[in-house]
Amino acid sequence: MKIFVDTANLNEIREVHSWGVLAGVTTNPSLIAREGRDFIATIHEICELVQGPVSAEVIAQDVAGMVKEGKLLAQLSEHVVVKVPLTPNGIAATRQLSDAGIKTNVTLCFQPAQALMAALAGATYISPFVGRLDDISVDGRELIEQIVAIYAQDPDLDTQVLAASIRHPIHFIQAALAGAHVATVPFKVLQQLFLHPLTDKGNEAFLKDWQKVPDPDICGAVERFLATRR
Ligand code: E4P
Repeated sequence: MKIFVDTANLNEIREVHSWGVLAGVTTNPSLIAREGRDFIATIHEICELVQGPVSAEVIAQDVAGMVKEGKLLAQLSEHVVVKVPLTPNGIAATRQLSDAGIKTNVTLCFQPAQALMAALAGATYISPFVGRLDDISVDGRELIEQIVAIYAQDPDLDTQVLAASIRHPIHFIQAALAGAHVATVPFKVLQQLFLHPLTDKGNEAFLKDWQKVPDPDICGAVERFLATRR
């Protein structure tokens, strides 16, 4: 499963990018608004930095408006993925954008039939919202499992399952185990993926014990050893 970061904050994206594990970025109107910056400049900068798929959402609700916005957004960068809401108009727009060779991310998916409609319209990604389902006591993991199973039955469907609305590391693991192709994860949750108290405790103990070896400077010791062999 690949990792996207779910943010429009460039500092957060830079940090995750520096870890060498980032495959892409998703934004939505709320995340863009939170940054208070120019939308187009933000999307363009993210694309330049990440050099991978970057979702930018349309705002129009009619088919012609969505297609127009989507085609313009796609001209910003080859990395733009046009994000479209899962409405009848959104599905019709997805078909047109897909036929025009533009990548799409169909968002706000909460039940498997919606995911099948998006795939039949040629969506590049479908975004099931795990956390928002859990918020209303519906099992978000089950939705991902169902979508993965439905897609697996039809070899003509090549839509990728992009698990979204990930709120904590357990959602992330559930998405991976359920067979999602990608999880888009908020920065705070990505930071949590590294954490375990036994890792910190073990690392501290190793460092403390290392001070007892006769020559604790690894680089110096290796260089001196290699010099004796030259
Ligand atoms: C996905 O593309 C959405 O931007 C995001 O995952 C929504 O997450 P939320 O439900 O935590 O707002």
